Amino acid sequence: MKSILILLSIFFLTVHSQTITVLSPSSGSEITPGQDVTVQLAFGNSLTGVEHVSAVIAMINCAGAPCPIDASDSLGIPLFAGNYTPQYHEQNLPPYENFTVTVPGTLAAGTNMLTVAHFMLVGASAVPVLQFDNVTVSTPPSASSTRRETLIRGRTVYV
Ligand SMILES: *[C@@H]1O[C@H](CO)[C@@H](O)[C@H](O)[C@H]1NC(C)=O
Ligand SMILES: *[C@@H]1O[C@H](CO)[C@@H](O)[C@H](O)[C@H]1NC(C)=O
Repeated sequence: MKSILILLSIFFLTVHSQTITVLSPSSGSEITPGQDVTVQLAFGNSLTGVEHVSAVIAMINCAGAPCPIDASDSLGIPLFAGNYTPQYHEQNLPPYENFTVTVPGTLAAGTNMLTVAHFMLVGASAVPVLQFDNVTVSTPPSASSTRRETLIRGRTVYV
């Protein structure tokens, strides 16, 4: 019984102090549709064995409406899905991995959300854990919609 309690508390500590974190882009960063962005995904050093299985990086198009609260309903538009192998790079940062993803061209101007899902196995008994993180980003009007506006204005002037 005692050992089960110890195991449970180790598991609690592990899960609650070790989470997936989007270090970059930072909250409020500008994200331009059609352009590449570096997503820096960090995970604190493991107390007990953690086996990183995979990560998903996605974008929720929520401009003009409140962004969703629960990522387990929908991650939005997946931009990357695959292996996640964080490593030490700089001494002042936890292990991380950088991913370069392309921002969807369909992203509307306004406040949008970059979401991340992370799946791992914890401890000797391989407890499956799914975690989420997100950052809200700001999307400027896209070049194509600016061009369309100019064209419409041009036509208006012509008529
Ligand atoms: C985004 O992160 C905030 C803060 O951690 C959280 O409250 C919210 O539920 C998250 N939203 C999604 C869609 O994951
Ligand atoms: C990862 O991306 C961040 C943010 O763009 C950058 O500061 C850092 O140098 C990159 N690290 C590596 C190892 O490429």
